[in-house]
Amino acid sequence: MKAIIVHGGAGYDLPPPEFADGIKKALDAGYEVLEKGGSSVDAVEVAINVMEDDPQFDAGYGSFLNLFGEVEMDASIMKSDYSCGAVASVKNIQHPISLARKVMEETEHVFVVGEGANLIAEALGFPYFDPIAPSSKKKWEEMKEKFIKGEKKLAYGKLRDFYLKKISEGLGTVGAVALDDNGIIASGTSTGGIHLKLPGRVGDTPIIGAGTYATPWAGASSTGQGECIIKITLAKRVVDLIEKYKPQEAITHVINFVKDMKCLCGLIALDREGNFGIFHTTPFIRVGYKREDGAFLVTNKYGG
Ligand code: GLY
Repeated sequence: MKAIIVHGGAGYDLPPPEFADGIKKALDAGYEVLEKGGSSVDAVEVAINVMEDDPQFDAGYGSFLNLFGEVEMDASIMKSDYSCGAVASVKNIQHPISLARKVMEETEHVFVVGEGANLIAEALGFPYFDPIAPSSKKKWEEMKEKFIKGEKKLAYGKLRDFYLKKISEGLGTVGAVALDDNGIIASGTSTGGIHLKLPGRVGDTPIIGAGTYATPWAGASSTGQGECIIKITLAKRVVDLIEKYKPQEAITHVINFVKDMKCLCGLIALDREGNFGIFHTTPFIRVGYKREDGAFLVTNKYGG
């Protein structure tokens, strides 16, 4: 059974219709890989690459800028055989998810950050790439004006309140989970993090178990407020339940806890039969889903 589900972040403001086009493009690209006999890892990488290239999403080109106006990106990928790779705070590459895949497949490591991640990228021939999209730069200038004007010490002071305020200004992390004809599940997630983040701040996206997780039963990718998602190991929490329940039913067992934790987030999951699960505690999540039997969904706002 071939199936793929993708997300383009959970957030507050309903995005323009072309956001759904971006989701559909990623979904189609990932599904095409599966149709041509490619693996679920290939499908996840390709789907995420499409969103990393689209400046409407907070990943790759389009990543949100940190406090100093730089882009630091995080990504992770995992297969249902428990192999995984992750990078964090990596700079100046086009496709962080592809680097996470290289960490998984071509190194003895699981998680490499900052300068080390860039060294691997350089050694493996990833070309230099400037990921600052004009739209992200413009947003950074607006955000700086709105939130840190005259408050030079803010980054070291009331961080929690500050970031909670800003989190509602846009969540655009991207992710994908795919199932291939060999029954292998892969999941991946990629992000630029949150607006005006402290340099070196890392969210859930590259953390195996929080942003991304996969087992022989299912895979999941999270989006939203990383600080909270890490604490509740969101992706693993849902995937583990899928040993017993179908994905959407598994979600009913975690959603109240997630809400009680006031965690602003969303998640997509896919099981080994190609069934999906989706939830969000924000007003919307952008998602797309396609399965070999014709099941199909693309929306800017899933569910209630
Ligand atoms: N979920 C993305 C982040 O918090 O960085």
